[in-house]
Amino acid sequence: MERGRSAYASAGGLEGRVGIVAAMCGIVGYVGRRAARPLLLAGLKRLEYRGYDSAGISLLCDGRIESVRSVGNLAALEQKLAAHELLSETQRTEEAAQPAHTAALLRSAAAPSTGIAHTRWATHGRVSEQNAHPHFDCTDRVHVVVNGIIENHLPLKRDLLAAGCEFTSQTDAEVVAHLLARRYEGDLMQAVLRVRSELAGLYAFVAMSAQERDLLVGVRSETPLVIGRGENEQFIASAVPAFLSETRLVQELEDGDVAALRPDGVEICDLRSVKVRRRKHVVDWDEETAEKGGFATFMLKEIHEQADAVAETIADRTALRSEVSLAEEGLDEALFSETRRIILVACGTSYHAGLVGRYAIEQWARVPVEMDIASEYRYRNPVVGEGDLVIGISQSGETADTLAAMRLARRQGAKVLAITNVMGSQATREADGVLFTRAGLEIGVAATKTFVCEVAVMYLLALRLAKMRGSLEDEQLRTLVSELKQLPHHIAELTGGGDHGGRGGVSAAVQEVAARFWRRSFFLYMGRNIGLPIALEGALKLKEISYIATDAYPAGEMKHGPIALLDESSPVVCVATESPVLEKLISNMEEVKARGATVIAVMTEGSEQVAQAADFALAVPRTDWMLQPILAVIPLQMLAYEIAQRRGLNVDQPRNLAKTVTVE
Ligand code: AGP
Repeated sequence: MERGRSAYASAGGLEGRVGIVAAMCGIVGYVGRRAARPLLLAGLKRLEYRGYDSAGISLLCDGRIESVRSVGNLAALEQKLAAHELLSETQRTEEAAQPAHTAALLRSAAAPSTGIAHTRWATHGRVSEQNAHPHFDCTDRVHVVVNGIIENHLPLKRDLLAAGCEFTSQTDAEVVAHLLARRYEGDLMQAVLRVRSELAGLYAFVAMSAQERDLLVGVRSETPLVIGRGENEQFIASAVPAFLSETRLVQELEDGDVAALRPDGVEICDLRSVKVRRRKHVVDWDEETAEKGGFATFMLKEIHEQADAVAETIADRTALRSEVSLAEEGLDEALFSETRRIILVACGTSYHAGLVGRYAIEQWARVPVEMDIASEYRYRNPVVGEGDLVIGISQSGETADTLAAMRLARRQGAKVLAITNVMGSQATREADGVLFTRAGLEIGVAATKTFVCEVAVMYLLALRLAKMRGSLEDEQLRTLVSELKQLPHHIAELTGGGDHGGRGGVSAAVQEVAARFWRRSFFLYMGRNIGLPIALEGALKLKEISYIATDAYPAGEMKHGPIALLDESSPVVCVATESPVLEKLISNMEEVKARGATVIAVMTEGSEQVAQAADFALAVPRTDWMLQPILAVIPLQMLAYEIAQRRGLNVDQPRNLAKTVTVE
């Protein structure tokens, strides 16, 4: 059975996509002959590996939809469910504070057999019960659980508010509940077909109506949603693990599909609202493999999630097409207008993302940028204060040195911005503003999807600053935003399909290099300009999961020492994508080859000169040269992965390393 593919996999590669390259929330729905609640809670448990900060469940009980939501883990949700059950009848009715649909939920004796449930990884709106799903409309007729991003939620919300809808959350997802209720005329499938045409973005949702028992309706729009077929019962979920213990018969949905699930069967309409049949597969995975979406490791799954992760990170921030909008983050853009200098502080892979950001901000926004390793910055008595914007980059938001550097800067009067992947992390509490990556939980210790999302956020920030400062022509901005929006498709070409996809999700070209060099004891990486951070990142990836000694240098530095390291046994990885300094890099490649080294070049597709100068070429799709780093890193992630696998190492938990370094 095929592993998951991004919704962005190149044409022709989308067939048979069964595994899940997922966004970050978890959806589970059940309709059938058994009690829904235990099955839904068990399904949410199976999706816990995706990470979440709140959860909720809605059940159809005697013609009413009853719902309970809670912040925290599933135990908190179950406690809340149980707590109500222990309440006496009078106490329950006294629980006036609870919405009507909660108190009644637990009165119902009959075990409801239709329901939806959700685990939320917050992207829009803080972590709170009101922001947890399921969301519902003002009349409580429709409940819905959503995954992904509704890009046009702001204009939709504005119109719904003007029409008198009352919103109870700060999420983009709630607009779906209100829209469905307004389009509902007794047929939920028809309402969903209408609402689908009004939504923009990468999303999946499952809805239920109080007026139609034994019915769930789900939509897949470039965010995974899969059906589990049973005997007089049906499941629908973000990922196969949610129902794998109940059924192994999986039915795949394609982008744009709307599915109506009833106990006795499933009806599917495609993008044109025409009834279609979709293939069913018997899944032969065990539970752990299912959590990895069919990939051998979490790291490989996360490498393949990069297209979706970058898409979610940039989606609604580039909805205006001609410029970047960061306003929805509740970010006071005054933070930027008073900035005379930007200082980036980070560790490890996040440091490398910052290095890319430095090039982008200086190139596009013409703001001076310093980049520092956080553990160095905090002890070098830096000159920092008013007029400085210090940006702490940390996917976990918990790295001790980065937090300390941010605190130091703030104490000395600088403004502080955090770029992180985790809502509620310490970094979000130590900053004047936060920009979130939306990579979803990253389980592999070696950062992959969080890195490309950090780089994407740096690009967004640089373009926003350029717009505010008028340092780029509108046409240039438009072109760059357009190229930025294409990145998920380019990433998917490298990870999800077409002639780049290969055995185990690693391209044939990468496998060839790995097969040749996996036993070597040293690799040298080199790059120039915006390619240098990728050389550094590629070297870190290889050393941290394969334990091979690596070094990474500016290519212009080779003759100042490192070239002494090279002989016939030396593999040299060169990041040689299109850039104003490509000619120089090609000379550097000749230099190292003259010493007998073997050159493995990451190049832009069609770069004949690089292909001729290199012994091995790993090609990436063409895009603006400043955006190439997000693509160039992918073959290097895969190379490190493939070599570590060949060495029989545990790539998800490398020795001596932790996913988050909360100590100095
Ligand atoms: C990268 O693969 C490593 N996991 C490590 O260098 C990591 O990037 C570093 O510890 C910083 O973590 P942070 O982004 O959570 O702050």
